[in-house]
Amino acid sequence: MILVTGGAGFIGVNFVKYLSKFNTDIVALDNLSIPTGTKNIKSIKQKNFHFVKGSLLNKKILQKIFTKYKPICIVNFAAETHVDRSISNPKNFINSNIIGLFNLLEISKNYFAKLESSKKRSFKFLHISTDEVYGSLKKKDISFKETNKYYPNSPYSASKAAADHLVYAWYKTYNFPSLITNCSNNYGPYQYYEKLIPLTILKALNGENIPIYGSGKQVRDWLYVYDHCSAIHKVLKKGKKGETYNIGGNNQQTNLETVSMICGYLDKVYPRKDNKSYKDQITFVKDRPGHDFRYAVNNNKIKRELNWKPKYSFSHGIKLTVDWYLSNMDWLESSKNKKFKKWEISHYK
Ligand code: DAU
Repeated sequence: MILVTGGAGFIGVNFVKYLSKFNTDIVALDNLSIPTGTKNIKSIKQKNFHFVKGSLLNKKILQKIFTKYKPICIVNFAAETHVDRSISNPKNFINSNIIGLFNLLEISKNYFAKLESSKKRSFKFLHISTDEVYGSLKKKDISFKETNKYYPNSPYSASKAAADHLVYAWYKTYNFPSLITNCSNNYGPYQYYEKLIPLTILKALNGENIPIYGSGKQVRDWLYVYDHCSAIHKVLKKGKKGETYNIGGNNQQTNLETVSMICGYLDKVYPRKDNKSYKDQITFVKDRPGHDFRYAVNNNKIKRELNWKPKYSFSHGIKLTVDWYLSNMDWLESSKNKKFKKWEISHYK
């Protein structure tokens, strides 16, 4: 039995679906804080799948899950993840990403201590983290390695960095069998519309301005979510306890290139009624405070030690993603709710 926390979120739901090939028993925990969470859970058709609504801040629920489902593996996706929201409301990020993670670690550690030795050997706690903990790169800097120092710049990345340190400390101090993965920017089906790629698709199709922060020259290393899922699966099967693995997509693009590629593909498959390009909707807006310039991930360790590499080129991944959103416009529309609309309008004036 695998416990997937944050199982209704973007990467969590993709990971649960990915596991369907392996006939694994899964229990997902999620507080359904993102408006699309319920739809995501309903889209999971696997038989051996259980869902519990709850947050990492609720220790009683966590305890009940361990007693009832007896997981032998934990994959922790549960986190507040959006940088812009961490700027306007950092408290949620401290609570979920640090206090929540601490609760999960403590309960998992106590549960692990009571396991019989054969189960202890297979037990793994995999914490999913981000490349943002390493800070920001300049144009020509070499990519992030696992040995890089942590330099988080936003409340979000600082909360993830704190969580990573806790996970590693639990391994060192208590011999708790944890591992960490640090991934680059994910994209693909089920991503909530606050992030750059789904936001661009939604704004383009709605005939609205597509906002690009600052110059649009910032660089992100895009990882198709299926590649991320296959990497996580490899780490679960073969990763060494106490280790950290970077997972990157080998797809570095400026934000302007990313948005332009989406617009170009939409022009082909879903042309505007006036036959103009969606690129005309691109609008440069005020920059994000403390905006990290560039992320880029060095995959050598996971490639060498676990024989994993990303398979999706950026252009292929973008096509699959745009096609998915075009076939699921009701999902994308329903993801807009008042709370998030308010955030979107009020930010960075
Ligand atoms: O590196 C992984 C991280 O990538 C994850 O850990 C985070 O959870 C995830 O939010 C992401 O952080 P970013 O800030 O890079 O992602 P976001 O999609 O918000 O923005 C991508 C880039 O696009 C970034 O340079 C900011 C820019 N941007 C974003 C939005 C929402 C715009 O120019 N306009 C926008 O409207």
